[in-house]
Amino acid sequence: MALDRKPAPNDLGAFWMPFTANRQFKKAPRMLVGAKDMHYTTADGRQVLDGTAGLWCCNAGHCRPKITEAIAKQAAELDYAPAFQMGHPAAFELANRIIEIAPKGMEHVFYTNSGSESVETALKLAIAYHRARGEGARTRLIGRERGYHGVNFGGISVGGIVNNRKVFGTLLGGVDHMPHTHLPAQNAFSKGQPEHGAHLADELERIVALHGAETIAAVIVEPMAGSTGVLLPPKGYLERLRAITKKHGILLIFDEVITGFGRLGSAFAAQHYGVLPDMMTTAKGLTNGVIPMGAVITTPEVHDAFMQGPEHMIELFHGYTYSGNPIASAAGIATLEVYKEEGLFERAAEMAPYWQDALHSLKGLPHVIDIRNEGLIGAVELEGIAGEPTKRAFSAFLKGFEKGIMIRTTGDIIAMSPPLIIEKSHIDTLIGTLSEVLKTLD
Ligand SMILES: Cc1ncc(COP(=O)(O)O)c(C=O)c1O
Repeated sequence: MALDRKPAPNDLGAFWMPFTANRQFKKAPRMLVGAKDMHYTTADGRQVLDGTAGLWCCNAGHCRPKITEAIAKQAAELDYAPAFQMGHPAAFELANRIIEIAPKGMEHVFYTNSGSESVETALKLAIAYHRARGEGARTRLIGRERGYHGVNFGGISVGGIVNNRKVFGTLLGGVDHMPHTHLPAQNAFSKGQPEHGAHLADELERIVALHGAETIAAVIVEPMAGSTGVLLPPKGYLERLRAITKKHGILLIFDEVITGFGRLGSAFAAQHYGVLPDMMTTAKGLTNGVIPMGAVITTPEVHDAFMQGPEHMIELFHGYTYSGNPIASAAGIATLEVYKEEGLFERAAEMAPYWQDALHSLKGLPHVIDIRNEGLIGAVELEGIAGEPTKRAFSAFLKGFEKGIMIRTTGDIIAMSPPLIIEKSHIDTLIGTLSEVLKTLD
């Protein structure tokens, strides 16, 4: 039916919000109107401590002048340049700077606009890489239960979060999943990497035996699974996964959309865990979350496989209108400069023990059944209310917001990933307030 009125600018109906309880939100909106460093400002003028770096992305904190000024300057100088068959200097400069901080052995960058697009790009690259080398039967993609790889069809196919998959049809064919690594009975309240579960990587051998290695293109995992509630790799697990993929000629993709750019105290999880994949997918912290941008980072082996055929021919029929957009590139360069000048990755590593102690001080509070942490990331898992999953943690989120902290919840897990500029006093406030909230939960 046609609208017989124009909506008022502040009507909330038109915007169908992503991953949001729309009806609940629109009854009691949580509006943010400003941000600076560690805090958001709400529409009613309150300061809210950001315990989540926005959505795991504002690693340098909010409204950093170096980044906002770089964006303004670039927008006034070169707003857009075609991404296909044309270039501009900032995209090349940023790629070099990414490679400077990437693990040794990573040498090329393919730009996207989000984590989801980085994942689709990496999956396509994996299949096309094998074809370019004459192994065109390698088309299968292996993900993991409870993995989150964004929301596009490839990503939800290899992903393992049932609500993100079950209403969207048959998804991609030729996909299989390894088991997740969450073993609460053995590993609850582990500090950092848990002891038990390296053997779960051997499940890949079972999948290889089932399908034949010669049909498998790639395995994609988050080195530390963030969105599903901070599931850490058991000690030795990633090393085994690397050894098995290598043995069978299968590419290993680390989805570093959350772990990239300092979250664990190194530029990437690949360095933190000392395991080199063949490709890494990134986004979020690349531009401090300020402008949408993602990047797939590859080894020369992957890249070089495509560099054949006549030189005037396009080597890879893939890319986005906004791949390497000038303003996003400028934001990326400025962001990487802020990380470097302020030593924010090292800072995350230095702050991690204090963060760990603070988080684990919540042990023993009502409903808390597990606490997990690594670098500047942490999760508190609550026992769900019988018959009403997610409600208890969501109530913690709402109460926390009222009391001036922003946390995130997934299922009945509270996840936190503060900006890397966090001070000890902020950690005290964040965890102290969360502790008060936990004591008041039904
Ligand atoms: C590991 C991982 N991959 C992919 C994505 C998707 O990123 P985006 O929301 O930018 O598409 C996310 C987002 O949280 C993520 O955590």
